[in-house]
Amino acid sequence: MHIRPYRPADREAVHDICIRTADSGEDASASYRDPDILPAIFAHPYTFLDPDLAFVLDDGGRAVGYVVGTADTSAFAARFRAEWLPLVAERYPAPAAEPTTPDEVMAHLLHTPERMVLPELTDHPAHLHIDLLPGCRGSGHGRMLIDTFVTALGRTGAVGLHVAMVTANHRARPFYDRLGFRPLAVTDPGPLTYLGLPVPAPTATVHTQPAEA
Ligand SMILES: CC(C)(COP(=O)(O)OP(=O)(O)OC[C@H]1O[C@@H](n2cnc3c(N)ncnc32)[C@H](O)[C@@H]1OP(=O)(O)O)[C@@H](O)C(=O)NCCC(=O)NCCS
Repeated sequence: MHIRPYRPADREAVHDICIRTADSGEDASASYRDPDILPAIFAHPYTFLDPDLAFVLDDGGRAVGYVVGTADTSAFAARFRAEWLPLVAERYPAPAAEPTTPDEVMAHLLHTPERMVLPELTDHPAHLHIDLLPGCRGSGHGRMLIDTFVTALGRTGAVGLHVAMVTANHRARPFYDRLGFRPLAVTDPGPLTYLGLPVPAPTATVHTQPAEA
């Protein structure tokens, strides 16, 4: 197992990992008529728009986990609308009415990237998504992916990082807590919990809180 930068040949594996982890860490493929919309929102726009902040966990043959993200959520949302959405909008049209089905809810998210930009997150302008297949969890790889991401992020000048996690994802919350993420108060968080982490200025490799802390 090793961590390396994302490359275009990882696209299919990242696509698969995203779907197989999108239901609070569980396989979401049965919950959607077309689950391919999930990586079109949560994975591919990041590798497309911010490839320098995309890393995979490689088991020696294939990506089995990834971290993707952006240094500037506001700029990312603008580029998502201008550069990414035109590539996928025809396949996933915006819902005509209030979204009700799971597919419509996702289509609504796809078509409203500005929802990611909140005033309460100004001090934590970067954000990420991290997902590992079940067989490689609980062995320190998630921590290493975050350390790799934060080290790369430090070089961009970003001062803070946030994650918007589904509050019902009870197994992910202790992970973020352990790595030093702390809750960020957001006025109307909906089903999400926002957590923030300061990003150190670039030096050498960044390590999140030591294991014994
Ligand atoms: C959440 C996830 C990224 C964590 O990665 P991981 O490789 O399993 O976590 P690690 O083994 O690196 O754990 C790092 C630290 O967090 C702690 N930790 C992780 N999960 C924990 C849990 N459920 N309860 C308590 N501690 C936990 C570990 O004990 C470890 O502590 P240490 O380094 O001080 O010993 C991974 O489990 C995953 O992809 N889950 C499914 C998808 C998902 O939920 N993604 C997040 C969406 S917001």
